[in-house]
Formats: sequence, C-alpha cells, structure tokens
Amino acid sequence: MTMNIVVLGAQWGDEGKGKIVDLMTPYFAIVARYQGGHNAGHTVYVAGRKFVLHLIPSGILHDGVTCIIGNGVVVDPPALFAEIEELAGLGIEVGERLLISEKAHLILPYHRELDILSEARRGERKIGTTSRGIGPAYEDKIGRRGIRMCDLADTKALADEVRANVDARNQIIRDSTLDWHVVYRDLLAYGGRMRRWTADASLFLANAIKSGKRVLFEGAQATMLDIDHGTYPYVTSSNASIGGVCTGLGVAPRAIDGVLGVAKAYTTRVGEGPLPTELFGELAERLRESGQEYGASTGRPRRCGWYDAVVVRYAARINGLDALALTKLDVLDGLDELRICTGYRIGGRVVTEFPAALSEDSCEAIYDTLPGWKEPTRGARSFDELPIEARSYVKRLEEVSGVPCAIVSTGSDRDETIIRKDSVAATWLSTPASV
Ligand code: GDP
Ligand code: IMO
Ligand code: MG
Repeated sequence: MTMNIVVLGAQWGDEGKGKIVDLMTPYFAIVARYQGGHNAGHTVYVAGRKFVLHLIPSGILHDGVTCIIGNGVVVDPPALFAEIEELAGLGIEVGERLLISEKAHLILPYHRELDILSEARRGERKIGTTSRGIGPAYEDKIGRRGIRMCDLADTKALADEVRANVDARNQIIRDSTLDWHVVYRDLLAYGGRMRRWTADASLFLANAIKSGKRVLFEGAQATMLDIDHGTYPYVTSSNASIGGVCTGLGVAPRAIDGVLGVAKAYTTRVGEGPLPTELFGELAERLRESGQEYGASTGRPRRCGWYDAVVVRYAARINGLDALALTKLDVLDGLDELRICTGYRIGGRVVTEFPAALSEDSCEAIYDTLPGWKEPTRGARSFDELPIEARSYVKRLEEVSGVPCAIVSTGSDRDETIIRKDSVAATWLSTPASV
C-alpha cells in the first residue's frame, strides 16, 4: 500500500503545517503543493535554524525528496527565485528536485497592483490580503485570460496575450505606467530560467504512485480560508480544503489514503473576517507573545482566541479528517484556566454547525472551561509525560471536535513532537522512504 497523505489546515491558517510536513517528509518520496501561492508562510525549525517556505513545498529541506508545485498553485517568478536564493543561502540546493506543473498559472506584476487597489476600494470592508496578487491571478485563471507556465514557450501567442492583459489592466489602473514590452521581456527571461523544472506534474505523480512511491500533499492556508467552504468573502481565492488536492494536482481521489488536519491548541487568524472566539486585551497579548503570533509572510500580528471545536468539527467533515496534529500546546503552559468553544449562541438559538454567514456582532461563543497546568509541556515527546490537566484538555478537545489527536506538537523544533502510539500517524510514519 502506498499510503499517500494530505496535510492541511483545519482553522484559519498558520496552524504549523510546515513543521508537521517537515517531520513527516522522511516517510515520503514526494511532497506536493496543490494550491495557494507565496501568500503562504510555512515555518520549519531544524536544530534551532529557521526556514520559511512560501511557494516551495516544506519537504525541500530533506535530501532526495522531489517537491512539486501543482497546477492549482499560482507562481510569482521573482518570488520563486528569491525563495530559491534564500534557501541556497541556508545551504539548501533546490537543483533538479523541483517540478512545476506546466499548467500552473503565473502571478504577473499587475496582479499585485490590482490586489492593492481592490483592497483600497473596499475600504472598511477590506479582506486584509497579503497583497501578493493572489486573488487577481486566480480571477484571471477563472476568467480564462491567465498565463500558464506552458504558455511561456509560444513567444508569439504570449506577446499577444500579455499585450491584451496589460492594456486591460491599464484601463483599470489609470495611473499605471506598466509597459507590456517590459512585462513580456521579463516573462521570457523567467520562462527560460524555469524551463528545467516545468513538467506534466499529474503524469509524474501518477507514474510515481504506480511505482510505489509515497506522496505527501501539503495544503496552504486552511479550510476556513477556502474560497467555497471558508468565511466568504474573508477567504483566499483557492480551494485549500481537500477538493483542491485533486483539482490542483491532477490526481484522482483514490490516490489519497489519509487526511491529517493541523490545528492549533487555540485559534489564530490574520486579516479581517469573523473569529468567534477572539480574545482582546491581556490574554490575547499573552497568547500572541508566547506563541509568537506574527505572520510568517507579512509580519502582521495575528488575532488570537480560544480553541473553537465548531470550526474543527466542520473541517473534519469537509475534509474527512482521519486525525489531527494538534500544535502549540506548550503556548498554553501556565494559564490558570482554558476554554474550548463548543457552540455559538446566535439570535437566542444554540448553533453547533458553522453557519454560511456569520455576523460577529450577533454571535456569542459558548465555552467549556477547563483547568490549566503549571508544569511545562514544552518539548514533551510522549503523551504520558504531559501534566494530567494537559492530557484532559487534549481529550476533551478530541471529544468535542470529533477527531483523534494523532500528533501533539509541544515546540517548534522537529523533535518537540508526540506521535501517539496506536494512532493513524504511527501507522503512516512507520517505514521511512528509501528515496
Ligand atoms: P503554517 O503556515 O501552518 O506552516 O504555520 P506558520 O509557520 O505560519 O506558523 C506556525 C508557527 O508556530 C511557526 O513559527 C512555527 O515554528 C511555530 N510552531 C509550530 N508548532 C509549534 C509548537 O508546537 N509550539 C510552538 N511554540 N511553536 C510551534
Ligand atoms: P499559511 O499557508 C494565514 C489570509 C490573508 C487574508 C486572506 C486573503 O501560511 O497558513 P490572500 O493574500 O490569500 O488573498 O489573502 O487569507 N491568508 C493567510 N492567513 N495563513 C496563510 O497561509 C494565509 N494566506 C492567506 O491574511 O485574510
Ligand atoms: Mg503560515
């Protein structure tokens, strides 16, 4: 059995997917990203050294692993090369280990401008995007005017397409001085440099899976930021939940053997939109500082709140989660008491399913209150060594979320992790890959 596993976010992003993917990578031959772009910031610490991956799958830190950027990802060429150079500076050579789908769409300079303009026009209703041009690039894809990796080969057709697109953009961005010749020339240059990595990713994956290689699918963003299933319109512009794996890589659902949702032991969100368990004041500050809750891509402070089981239960349903990797348990060390949200009170009614439209003003979170713990959990590597209150917290959280915690993370380093005995993760991670 090949056992290909998906790792994706079960909340609003930044759950620690990078850390979990990195620690699982030794058991896989291939790590593949299926959506999003360099709006993602996946942090991995190895022996105290910090790596932040944006476009390149977090598996790149392991020798011999092939990393795939799927057709569902939007690729910004300068951002890609900046990341490759940064990795090289840290001693990681991408070399021939990268493969980019020929069908992946490109982020062009005007997408960034349009992103910023669109946010300015929304004023108080702004999404709080990462300003990376993600939304406009996906708009062009759906609008059937996007430019794909494979389109860089046909220079004549590319010139026509770039010219039409830049002309159209210049109509919208009136003070734009963007010259289509410049965009075209830069694209050709990037096209030449990216050719070595461009391939049919779907075919590559199909052949690899057929020959028994294991694939780890790495989600970016998260279920609650999914364009269809998230807190629309305060979402990103791609399918970050399970469906994105098939559409974003050209793999069949049968190729997926397991789904791991990553969730923080509390909740955070960057940007605007509802966050029913949001905390303010001293407690929010306490979580932000001890959890170092500042965006890995933009540096923005993250909004912090209690663990929301309504959200994770919803993510479990949408994605068919087999298990959770619960991260940042150590951040809760030393708190007197903890809360877990089990439902919302909306207009006098108790709601336990996440609603399609949620107005924060009329939504009150309903909590279970549990005792905190005094002894540190930081760095714990077995469930039994956790303080009894921490174990009770995890157990209660499993009950109300309806998913078992197969992995509990107790620090940012690879080794600061509990892989629970008899869990699906213990099965998934039993035989290292021979890559
Ligand atoms: P991602 O986008 O889901 O990969 O998550 P980010 O990298 O944006 O944010 C997660 C942050 O939490 C990173 O700085 C990680 O190094 C850190 N982190 C991950 N797991 C743990 C943990 O168990 N404890 C602590 N203290 N930090 C963690
Ligand atoms: P990772 O993969 C957290 C948020 C932005 C904004 C919304 C739309 O590191 O978990 P976009 O630029 O995508 O159009 O912004 O989505 N967002 C993220 N929040 N983690 C991320 O990625 C995010 N990527 C986008 O803050 O609210
Ligand atoms: Mg992140």
